Amino acid sequence: MKIIKNSFKGIKVAAEILKGNGTVAFPTETVYGLGANAFSNAAVTKVYKIKRRPISNPLIIHVSSYDMAKEYGVFNDLAEKLARNYWPGPLTIIIKKKKSDVVESATAGLETIALRCPSNIIAQKLIMELDRPIAAPSANISGKLTCTSPKDVSAKLKNSIDALLDGGNADLGLESTVVDCSIGRPCILRPGNISLDEINSFLGYEIAFNLGITKQVKSPGQLLKHYSPDTELYLNQTKPIEGDIFLSFGPHPKEIDGLTLSKSKNLAEAAKNLFSFLHILDRLSKDKGGIPIKVAPIPSYGLGAAINDRLLRAAEK
Ligand code: TXA
Ligand code: MG
Repeated sequence: MKIIKNSFKGIKVAAEILKGNGTVAFPTETVYGLGANAFSNAAVTKVYKIKRRPISNPLIIHVSSYDMAKEYGVFNDLAEKLARNYWPGPLTIIIKKKKSDVVESATAGLETIALRCPSNIIAQKLIMELDRPIAAPSANISGKLTCTSPKDVSAKLKNSIDALLDGGNADLGLESTVVDCSIGRPCILRPGNISLDEINSFLGYEIAFNLGITKQVKSPGQLLKHYSPDTELYLNQTKPIEGDIFLSFGPHPKEIDGLTLSKSKNLAEAAKNLFSFLHILDRLSKDKGGIPIKVAPIPSYGLGAAINDRLLRAAEK
């Protein structure tokens, strides 16, 4: 794996690799993506293989503007309203797919397409330099911990991807909110940095929330077990004891190994730290013979809903 520094030249080098059907991990404001040229079946196939992701689970197609997105999907009124308000930013919009050069494998043969216009400037420049959309799932092995830093991407994928475009740590730390606008009654398929409350208050009415914790999984990636560290997670733990590994929220208790997601109980800080701290504690657990990680309760309002969604799936056996 080639490590590419973020610079004018670096972005050109990364785009060349994508043009040649290679795979490039790149930063977005949410988490790192594993990018492929969305017009190349060969490149997209590599992404599914590297991630060990079922080919039935479609990828998000990243664009650099709303105008570009309109070439690949049919924007109804709601989708347009959301895109105009939240793009560029951490919102993925699912709409009916238009006939285009985006390969069928990228959308898993569905009649819908997931579009996202990231606000991260490096991601924006990379898409513009490639002059094509980038198909990108999160840069991690399917079902395992998401990567929000170049270090974690490298640790997990360095032997299987062509390059890593280093853009430092992701600003937000949780994947984008996914809204399905392709159906009569729109719904949130994945909670993320833009909360349900925020979307509801922007729209002026309540949209549905489908967490996919039923047998009828609308978003194939929303399986209950997901985002998993190698070690076990015990949630809602309030009384860690010496010898435990504890992921706390608020001041970290003395004499206990671990980290606090946010000393001041700030949910945005906790979201940003969540995956990178789970990577660290997963390694610590291995050093200690595989003991579980205990996690403090996290409030469920606002961003807490998305944090708890990730923790619940990560803890599922
Ligand atoms: O923040 C993010 O969204 C990151 C960055 C890299 O953009 N990407 C990301 O991709 O999280 P991924 O593949 O880990 O998650 C995409 C989710 C999956 O649950 C997938 O099943 C769902 O979006 N998805 C994609 N296309 C879909 C479609 N047409 N219908 C329903 N769900 C779809
Ligand atoms: Mg993912």
